[in-house]
Amino acid sequence: MTEIPEHLLERSRARRAALGLGGDAGPATASATGGSTAPATTASSPAKAAASAPVVAAKKPEVVVTPEVRAANARKKIPWWAAPVLLFLPLWSFLYVQTLSKPHVHAEGVLAEGEAIYAKCAGCHGATGGGAGAIPGFTNGVLLATFPDFAHHVEWLARGSEGFKAIGSYGATNRPVAGGMPAWAAQLTAKQLLAVVYYERIHFGGQTEADLEQLKTLAENPALPASFPLTLTLEDVEKLITNLAPAAG
Ligand code: HEC
Repeated sequence: MTEIPEHLLERSRARRAALGLGGDAGPATASATGGSTAPATTASSPAKAAASAPVVAAKKPEVVVTPEVRAANARKKIPWWAAPVLLFLPLWSFLYVQTLSKPHVHAEGVLAEGEAIYAKCAGCHGATGGGAGAIPGFTNGVLLATFPDFAHHVEWLARGSEGFKAIGSYGATNRPVAGGMPAWAAQLTAKQLLAVVYYERIHFGGQTEADLEQLKTLAENPALPASFPLTLTLEDVEKLITNLAPAAG
């Protein structure tokens, strides 16, 4: 397959001659394979070969022994289809790594639904829950001080300022009702209302999802009414929690 360059053959011959070795098959091969290119190549080499031959020949006479070379040439090569396989390896590894990355935490569930609903509240209370002027904010512990438990929080949201006007105040801090907070029972489904309470308490109140396991279970309960009445009382909420808890558990 691979031809031994003419000048190497020539050098080998010279070496063998210098060492007094016989078996000179060289000329026959050279004339058989060399053809017309041989004379040009060999013209200048004998002198050089003769000069370097003793040193090299003494060191590495096996250079001209060809079985290893023949074996190397005959061994299996990397198959042609390995090229496209190697080409797509980076793409494959990229896709594989993508499948390992965790989905975004806010991608779904009650918390995500609550976050979406909060867009309706942000116009008054601020996107960061800081409030504005007479509109109360939720941060710095205010939310949890007003509603230490979520049942009161749900009741307030469902009824709004109008629903508490007769009472005159709301929350654990007995905050005077100034007016202006819509009654959300008329605009949100029961699940949406619970979801936004869930979101507010985690996002602004600093509670954890573990703290609100009961609220989440309630929000995800299929037996939940479609919506809350505008007259929703604390007792109604507590009854709902008690009645729906076994179904969820
Ligand atoms: C039109 C403006 C407006 C919108 C929209 C609004 N709120 Fe309010 N919210 C108020 C006002 C005003 C108060 C104070 C009510 C009062 O004193 O009678 C309030 C009070 C509250 C409180 C009590 C906070 C405290 O610690 O006293 C909570 C909780 C609350 N809103 C949640 C919400 C949520 C959740 C939404 C969206 C679903 C929402 N609000 C949408 C105006 C608004």
